[in-house]
Amino acid sequence: MAPAASLIMEMARRAAEYRAAGRRIIDLTLGEPDFAPPAHVVSAAQQAAARPMGYTPANGIPELRRAARRALERDRALRYSDAEVAVGCGAKQVIFNTFFATLRPGDEVIIPAPYWASYPDMVRLCGAVPVIVPCSAESGFRLSPDALEAAVTDRTRWVVLNAPGNPSGATYSHDTLAGFAEVLRRRPSALILSDEIYAHIRYHAGDYVSIAQVAPDLRERILLVDGVSKAYAMTGWRVGWGFGPAELVRGITAVQTHNCTQTSAVSQIAAVAALQGPQDLLAERRETYRRRRDAGLAILKRSRYLDTAEPDGAFYLFPRLAVGDDIAAADALLEAGCATVPGSAFGAPGHLRLSFATDIATLEEGCRIIVATLDGFSE
Ligand SMILES: Cc1ncc(COP(=O)(O)O)c(C=O)c1O
Repeated sequence: MAPAASLIMEMARRAAEYRAAGRRIIDLTLGEPDFAPPAHVVSAAQQAAARPMGYTPANGIPELRRAARRALERDRALRYSDAEVAVGCGAKQVIFNTFFATLRPGDEVIIPAPYWASYPDMVRLCGAVPVIVPCSAESGFRLSPDALEAAVTDRTRWVVLNAPGNPSGATYSHDTLAGFAEVLRRRPSALILSDEIYAHIRYHAGDYVSIAQVAPDLRERILLVDGVSKAYAMTGWRVGWGFGPAELVRGITAVQTHNCTQTSAVSQIAAVAALQGPQDLLAERRETYRRRRDAGLAILKRSRYLDTAEPDGAFYLFPRLAVGDDIAAADALLEAGCATVPGSAFGAPGHLRLSFATDIATLEEGCRIIVATLDGFSE
C-alpha cells in the first residue's frame, strides 16, 4: 500500500501553488520558524563547507553527540553517555528509524490525539498498529494516566508522549508524568518515546520536566528525542537526535546506515555551533512567540465560531470550530487567502491548526481573514 503524504505538506503545497499562480496567500501551515540562523552558525557552516567533507559516522560526528549531551545536561539535568545518542536527519528520521528498528507486525503504539501527523503513518509504514487515544479539548488535549492504563496492553511496544505538543501546545505536569510512569512500570514491554522537540518553546515559568527526570528507574525504556529544528529555527538543516539505551541506539544507527547514511556533515557542524554558542536567543525568541501567540489569540477570540485555548508551548493555535467541517473550512480559508491545516490531519476533526512561527503582521492578517471568512461561512 502506498503511504499517504502528509496532509500538512499537502496544504503547504496547495498554498505554494496558489502563490505561484499569482494569488496572495498567507501561509500558516508549516511549523517552520522564520528566524535566520545566528551569525556564528552561518560562519561555522561556511568554514565547514569550504573543507573537503566526506561521510561522517552514521550516528553523527562525536562533537555533535557531545554538544547534544551537554545541552541536555545543561537544560534538563540528564546525563547520557556517548553510546546513548543517535543523530539523524531531523527528529523525524530518528523517530522513524526507532520505529523501524523495533516494531514488528501487530505491535501497538499508543498515540494520544491530537498528535503530530507523522506518528501514526510512521507506525503503519513499519507494519504496526497505531492505537489512538483521543484527549478532549476540555482536558487541554492531555492524556491522563487512567486513559493510558485503559489503552496499554501486552502488545504495546511504544507509548508516544509529545510535550509541548504539536498541534495543541499542551505540556504535562510532574504529577501526570509520574502517573504515566506508575502505569508503565506494570507493563515492562512498553517503551516510551518522549518527543521533546519543543522543550525550549514554553510560555510558563519553570524548567521543562521530562519523564526521563521524573522516572529515572525507567531510563532503559525511554527514548528522548530533540534537535535543532524548532529551538534554533534550523528546520531545513535536518539535524535531530535521540537519547536512549545503548542497545536501542545501536538499532537506530543500524537503520540509519542503510538509508541516508548520516545527516549532512555541514549541518552537523552548524548544529554544534548552535548548541555551543550563546543561548540568549532561546529566551528572546520565546518572548517573540509569546507576543505572536497573544496577538493571534486576540483576533481569533473575536469570532463567535471559534473557541481557541491558550497553548502552553510550541507555536501553534488550535481553535475548535463551533460548526462545520474542518476540511471544508480549511478549503474555504485557502480560497479566501489564508492556508491552515485541518485538525483531521492531527486526529482532531473540527479544529484548525495555525502556525505562529511567522511574523506578527502576517499572522494578524491571516487571523483576520480566518475570522471574517468563518463568520460568513457559518451563517
Ligand atoms: C512533534 C514534532 N516532532 C518532530 C518533528 C520533526 O522535527 P525535525 O525537523 O527535527 O525532523 C516535528 C516537526 O514538525 C514535530 O512537530
